[in-house]
Formats: sequence, structure tokens, C-alpha cells
Amino acid sequence: MSEEKTAKIFIEGKEIELPVIVGSEGETAIDIRKLRTGYGYTTYDPGYGSTGSCQSSITFINGEKGILRYRGYPIEELAENASFEEVTYLTIYGELPNKKQLADFNAKLNSYDSIHEDMKKFFENFPLSAHPMAILSSLITALSTFNPTSDKIEDREEDILRLIAKVKTLSAYAYRKSQGLPFIYPRDELTYVQDFMSMMWRKSNSAKYEINPVLEKAINVLLILHLDHEQNCSASTVRMVGSSQGNVYTAVAAGVAALWGPLHGGANQKVLDMLKAIQDDGGDYQKYIDMAKDKSSGFRLMGFGHRVYKNFDPRATILKKAADGILKELNIQDPLLDIAKNLEKIALEDDFFVSRKLFPNVDFYSGIIYRALQIPEEMFTVMFTLGRVPGWLAQWRESREDPHFRIHRPRQIYTGPTERHFVAIDKR
Ligand code: CMC
Repeated sequence: MSEEKTAKIFIEGKEIELPVIVGSEGETAIDIRKLRTGYGYTTYDPGYGSTGSCQSSITFINGEKGILRYRGYPIEELAENASFEEVTYLTIYGELPNKKQLADFNAKLNSYDSIHEDMKKFFENFPLSAHPMAILSSLITALSTFNPTSDKIEDREEDILRLIAKVKTLSAYAYRKSQGLPFIYPRDELTYVQDFMSMMWRKSNSAKYEINPVLEKAINVLLILHLDHEQNCSASTVRMVGSSQGNVYTAVAAGVAALWGPLHGGANQKVLDMLKAIQDDGGDYQKYIDMAKDKSSGFRLMGFGHRVYKNFDPRATILKKAADGILKELNIQDPLLDIAKNLEKIALEDDFFVSRKLFPNVDFYSGIIYRALQIPEEMFTVMFTLGRVPGWLAQWRESREDPHFRIHRPRQIYTGPTERHFVAIDKR
């Protein structure tokens, strides 16, 4: 990082010179750390669109060009060639693993992927209708009661592995619970994705289960595409909660809660609702386009738009292509895929979306693939979570090792009443 450039601001007759930080891809940030303590000024940036909350070497996004890289590797190359475990290792530790490192990593994950028998009882008391994201968030917090931890570095490193391993099992169990099915134990001989599939769909612990390679490849790609996305709402939540030096389980549980919202990871479930509604309306695309353009309707085109991408989201490009291939290989004809493509085409020809640079995002096509894989809609955001947990942990680990680590505590611009005095209740 170079700190040679400076920026000058002029305010109330004063000149303030501030350092400038330049990242490894050339993006420039004004370092305002001394603005409040040194000069008494605060910045205003609701939604943090212009705020860099940290320096990070994990994920690079160029939203104008539609570029996404984990630790320098283009997402396209990782999705095409790597396993989820390799990309998880890369994201957390910074380099792709060699064979031994990967074998050791997988052995560690295998040693942690069972769920305490007592903890399984927690599932019994959630209603069948419980959303699996609520179950997942609660149970990740509950993990801290079964795995008391300290803030020692060794414990933090083990917690990371424990969480990645156990989230696979908890996610599959959340699905089994929703279907009223018995839980299937994890198996050491299977890869992360295969084991997840086995725990989702194997009939019983003693039953044979053939891994369908089309499904396996599709899930592997989906998890890699979701693995990290720098300082989004859920990753920032994980960093925020982690900044109080609370334990990592609570930070990740908070990340799950943040991801669940429809403007974030919950959008994948809402996209399917929208496509089905268009289908039920006999393909009346214009009605939904018009509704999305009418701010008073409260409706947005789900799976469209992004805070950072002002071009195609590269993950959506990969998934659109993958959706065609997967449906073909599974011999499925899903009219919702045609509806999605038509909707995309109409939106991308409409000046409202063009002028605002609104393109399909990762959630636009992922739901159609999950549907083809027979994953129920309530599980879509859980699938996103399963992919994203290693990314959150990489962000959390990086923040705990950051020499600039401080509790996250934004300022505000107070706009309420100035001082006034208490009036007794009978005089009000
Ligand atoms: N449909 C209709 N209008 C939209 C949409 C949309 N999906 N997204 C943005 N706009 C409009 C918005 O009304 C605003 O118009 P104007 O400038 O006239 O006021 C303009 O575009 C900019 O929108 P914004 O709300 O300021 O943008 P943002 O960066 O705060 O929000 C977003 C980003 C992703 C929350 C938003 O685009 C959105 O709500 N999209 C639909 C939900 C969705 O698909 N979320 C998944 C995001 S990607 C995966 C993830 O993060 O989990």
C-alpha cells in the first residue's frame, strides 16, 4: 500500500490535508481516520456506498467491468476448475492448497462435522413450518454452548474449521427437519459437496446413495460462486459483531440473519416467487416491469441490480450458462427459465434499467438451478449460506489479525430536538 498521495478538503475557511491509500488494483481511498479526532468533522454516507470499512486482501470486485476475483484468481477459472474445499482453503489462508495441505484440511473438517446428539434435540422443537434460515442462525449460536471457546489464536483457528464442517451438517439437517425425515450421519469418505448431498438425500444411514455427478458439479459451482463477496451486508455484519471480540459463532449467526433479508441472499427465494407470479399472470411481463419502475408499488425486480456491479454480475453470467446445461443434462424443461430469460431481455431494453445500470445479479438464475436440483425454495438462502460461511470466516479472521483492528462504531449526525427539560405528566 502506498500512502504518498494526499487529498485536500476546504471547510469553514480551513484546509485539511488527508492521506490517500491506494489499493493493489489502483483504487484510491481518502483516509479520514483523523477527520473527527483531529478536526471535529464527520462524514455522511448512509448505506456506506462510499465508505471503505477495512483494507482486505481476500476478494477484488470491479463493478464497472464486472470482475470478481478471490485472492487474485478470476471467479470463472475457480468455478470451472476447483473444488469447494480448495477455494475455501484459498479464501481463508490466501493460497491454493497443495495435495497434502488439502488432505490435512479435509481430515480436519471430517473430524468436526458431527453434531452433538443433545444438539439434535433442538431441531425437535422448531415447528415444521420454521424457515431453515431461522433454524440455522439459532443453531450456529447454539454451537457456542457445545463448543465453549476462548479468544486465543489456536482456538480461533479451530473454531473456523469447526464452523465450516458443522454448517454442512446443520444445513442438511434443517432440510431433513422441514421434510420430517430422520438425520443422516456425515461420512469421511465423501467430499464436502458429496457429503452434503448424502445428508440431504440418502434414505437412511444404511441405504446406498449414488452421487449424481451433474448435481455434484452444479452444487460445487454454486457454492464457489457464493463463497465471498467482500464487504457486503452479511460480511460487514460478521466483522461488526466480531469487532466487539465476541465469539465467532455469534458473529456468523448474525451473518446468517443479515443474509436472510430479501435485498441480500433472501432474494434468490423471492426471484422464484416473482417468476411464478409472472407465469400465473399468463406471462404479463410488462405488469412486473411497470410495477418495478413505479416506486410507490414497493416492488423491485428481484435478482436485479447491485450496489457494486454496474455491469453484468459475472456470477449471473456463469449461472445463466450453467442453468441451460444443467437442465439439459437432467432432462428438465422448466418454463421458469424461459420466463427469466424473457424478463431479463425486456428489462435490459428498458431505459429505466439501462440508465440505472441494473443487470441480473447472482440470485437471478441460481433459484432455477436449485429447483432443478430438487432443493425446496426455503432452502435456497441456506445454500447461499453454506457457500458463504468460509468467506465470512476469512473476513472475520482477517479482521482479527488487522493491525488497525478497533471496535466498529460509526458516528451519526444528530437531527433530534436540542436540549429541553422534563415536564411532569400532569402538566403535559
Ligand atoms: N428493481 C427496480 N428498481 C431498482 C432495483 C430493482 N431490482 N434495484 C435498484 N433499483 C433502482 C432504485 O429504485 C433506484 O432508483 P432511483 O435512482 O430512481 O432512486 C436505483 O435503481 C438505485 O437503487 P438503490 O436502491 O439506491 O441501489 P442499492 O445499491 O442501494 O441497492 C440492491 C442494491 C441489490 C439492494 C437493489 O438493487 C435491489 O433491491 N435489488 C433487488 C434485490 C436483489 O436482487 N438483491 C440481491 C443482491 S445480489 C446478492 C446479494 O447481495 O445477496
